[in-house]
Amino acid sequence: MEIQSRFAAMGEMLNMIAHQWRQPLASIGTVSFNLKYKLLSGKFDLETKKGRDEQLSFFSKKLDEIEFYVQNLTTTIDDFRNFYKTDKTLTNTTIENPIKNTLKIIQKDLQTNNIDIKLDFKSQSNIKIYKNEIVHVILNILKNAQDKFLEKKMKNAKIEISTKDLEKSIKIDIYDNGGKIKDENLDFIFEPYFSTKKEKNGTGIGLYMSKIIIENNHHGKIYATNIKEGVCFSIILDCM
Ligand SMILES: Nc1ncnc2c1ncn2[C@@H]1O[C@H](COP(=O)(O)OP(=O)(O)OP(=O)(O)O)[C@@H](O)[C@H]1O
Ligand SMILES: [Mg+2]
Repeated sequence: MEIQSRFAAMGEMLNMIAHQWRQPLASIGTVSFNLKYKLLSGKFDLETKKGRDEQLSFFSKKLDEIEFYVQNLTTTIDDFRNFYKTDKTLTNTTIENPIKNTLKIIQKDLQTNNIDIKLDFKSQSNIKIYKNEIVHVILNILKNAQDKFLEKKMKNAKIEISTKDLEKSIKIDIYDNGGKIKDENLDFIFEPYFSTKKEKNGTGIGLYMSKIIIENNHHGKIYATNIKEGVCFSIILDCM
């Protein structure tokens, strides 16, 4: 690669890492705030053994959570260092596996914000994927739905994730009931730096990155459609 384009690729990689770090960093912030609050509010009666045990188990649970998110930050660096490589390792799995991994990262946040999540896993086929990259894609889509729910302060927020087998491929649908995308924007949401959240520091690279992962790195398809009360993101990946 020429020096110029190497710099461009490096800049893009840094942007992607920074983008994917936001969620775990925010989660670490929440957990640590939680710990501090419990500590300062004198929630645990340290005079009793019961109180001390409760404190211990609360703290170790929260520290485990922080460890989990930190691990995720570390993995993300590796994921994007490998992003442009062609010799990275494919994993043979069903689509359920990366979806569940994604939920581990974001589920707490969704719960805290009262977002109802419905799962319907019908696909059983094996696919060959760069698993972590698929996790990043699903995370981006869920994060966007959450952004919209929070912005609109929605009461009955709902996300539905469903999977099914097609003839030689599998399909994932991620639907949210948070309102449609304006028709004039629908063609641009996958473009780099297109964002309607500029005043909230939206970078507009989430969906762009997701499209590269699905279409360039996995030779699949990703698209969005306005349906019912919101938007559905669909991903199609070939079976092995
Ligand atoms: N579920 C959704 N419902 C409505 N609009 C959406 C949804 N997902 C994405 N969009 C639109 O697509 C745009 C691009 O999304 P993308 O994730 O690439 O960037 P962003 O979310 O604006 O910025 P960042 O990801 O850095 O926070 C968003 O600004 C929004 O207008
Ligand atoms: Mg986004």
